[in-house]
Amino acid sequence: MLDTHESVELAVVVPTFNERDNVEVLLARLDQALADVRWEVIFVDDDSPDETARLLHTLSARHPRVRCLRRIGRRGLSGACVEGMLATGAPVMAVIDADLQHDETLLPRMLQVMRAEPIDLVIGTRYAHGGSVGEWQASRLRMSQLATRLARGLLGTSLSDPMSGFFMIRREAFEASVYRLSGIGFKILVDLVASSPRPLRIRELPFRFAERHAGSSKLDSRVAWEFLMLLADKLVGRWLPVRLLSFGLVGTLGVGVHLLVLSTLLSLPGMAFVAAQASAVLLAMISNFALNNALTYRDQRLTGWRQLSGLLKFMATCGVGALANVGVAAYLNRDGTGWLLSALAGILVGTVWNYGVTSHLVWSAGRRR
Ligand code: GDD
Ligand code: MN
Repeated sequence: MLDTHESVELAVVVPTFNERDNVEVLLARLDQALADVRWEVIFVDDDSPDETARLLHTLSARHPRVRCLRRIGRRGLSGACVEGMLATGAPVMAVIDADLQHDETLLPRMLQVMRAEPIDLVIGTRYAHGGSVGEWQASRLRMSQLATRLARGLLGTSLSDPMSGFFMIRREAFEASVYRLSGIGFKILVDLVASSPRPLRIRELPFRFAERHAGSSKLDSRVAWEFLMLLADKLVGRWLPVRLLSFGLVGTLGVGVHLLVLSTLLSLPGMAFVAAQASAVLLAMISNFALNNALTYRDQRLTGWRQLSGLLKFMATCGVGALANVGVAAYLNRDGTGWLLSALAGILVGTVWNYGVTSHLVWSAGRRR
């Protein structure tokens, strides 16, 4: 039992999304592994449809070491971990997955390192000697290794497993980085290491990545995109918001969609240019909306019927953006600016308008349910 006068030495942060059948087992295992430690656990649940949060709240009412932070209308492993760490005053914090793939018996050894040495970060690694990824498909192994190399190269770290989701960090090291964190996607460790204002003192301990206990992985193809966005944010985020970058990329792709539709329709016999152009505009808007919903705003994406009202608001906003685009370009061109520069200025103004307005009108409404 937790003595209410004792201070907590270690906070374990567990991000959860649809982990109903894992959290009780994990809790029992933590209880066992940390028997000699003053610890607490903070589950951060993104309003899982399987009602993991309801179970966690029941557990937290029974178990004084347990807390559950329930986030509504938000998604993201990294962001969840950051908020969990912000919710505790413990001097040392650990992050561990809920699905029992990480070896919780490593936690006391990680803590021992923290107690004995001036280390900022202890990482559970799958790639160092003695570590292993267990039964992984070759394709996933290749992806993981590629991402590892990318992270090492771009961020200048020499870690054996920067993609690990299992680590322990000292509170001061976390707080020194917290304002610079991107909080994007799955790779919180890369984010922490890259955001630190000073080189961190790091220790790596090998462990064997186990099979998932119950439920299924949330890692999908979007994770690769989120990882690229994280790297982009770390590289250029100081000057350019990555969402705007993503929005711009999607827009550029939209031009391709437009031209493809237009040229296809024009090749049909008897097709009027106006009809073809109008259809191309419509399809490009739909595809831009869909891609922005899936990629740029993946963490707030609209689902079900809300996609339809989102699309209508998106189209209305982009219509005004197009007017602004043409207005600015025409104004500059009349004043003697060349056609290309005028057009680019119009596109820039239109894009920034579209981005600024849709980010509020279309997607932030997604925070409410
Ligand atoms: N709150 C919250 N929100 N939790 C999430 C979300 C989310 O959007 N997505 C995933 N989680 C939780 C899961 O419930 C699980 O506890 C943990 O984050 C890891 O998710 P998995 O879906 O099990 O990921 P994985 O096993 O494929 O990936 C793991 O291994 C990777 C290394 O290959 C994770 O540890 C990754 O961080 C790690 O990079
Ligand atoms: Mn997992």
